Amino acid sequence: MDSFEINKIIASILLTALIIIGIGKIVDILFYVEKPKLSAYKVEGIDQSSSGQQTSVKTEKAVEAVDIKTLLAMGDLAHGEKVFKKCTACHMIAADGKNKIGPNLWGVIGRTAGAIDDYNYSKAMKAYAKEWTFEEMNSYLIKPQAYIKGTKMAFAGLRKEKDRASVILYMNSKSSSPKPLP
Ligand code: HEC
Repeated sequence: MDSFEINKIIASILLTALIIIGIGKIVDILFYVEKPKLSAYKVEGIDQSSSGQQTSVKTEKAVEAVDIKTLLAMGDLAHGEKVFKKCTACHMIAADGKNKIGPNLWGVIGRTAGAIDDYNYSKAMKAYAKEWTFEEMNSYLIKPQAYIKGTKMAFAGLRKEKDRASVILYMNSKSSSPKPLP
């Protein structure tokens, strides 16, 4: 083997190395992905930068949000009448109203749950038998079947606070003795 051939071998080894390194670089350039600054799966409600103390302040606010006085202040009668249209498929709300799929709701605020004599309530509603206060009504209307398990009221619920507040005010007005607002 003369020196010329050794040179050729060394040159080809170097060339191969260069090509391999070069391909690596090109691949890096072609497939470069910028890393996002924030993680993509941010969990709502969890402030990533907050300390435990801040979290507890938030929980207090959530409790405040269901304060019945504040809630009812969000409602208005006219809106409540509109929202109640969702209920009229099953309920009347008149002094001389009849039971339909659901019981007549005249004077229901302040009434005991399951108290209409000629209406065939579910066992769950009969057993519940609490007074329909503003608070109870609010909790019930969020998701009736979750609040009174076994109720036969097939209604998903009113998610919006304003809708619940308004319909509660409306129901309270449909009574011979409306309850004073808190
Ligand atoms: C698909 C029919 C249906 C709809 C819609 C419906 N309800 Fe009812 N509701 C019922 C039935 C049935 C009952 C009786 C529940 C039981 O006995 O478990 C009931 C019971 C109630 C009661 C308890 C009454 C009592 O005498 O204790 C209240 C309050 C009530 N509904 C309010 C509402 C309101 C407010 C809406 C509209 C936002 C509504 N419901 C929509 C069927 C319905």
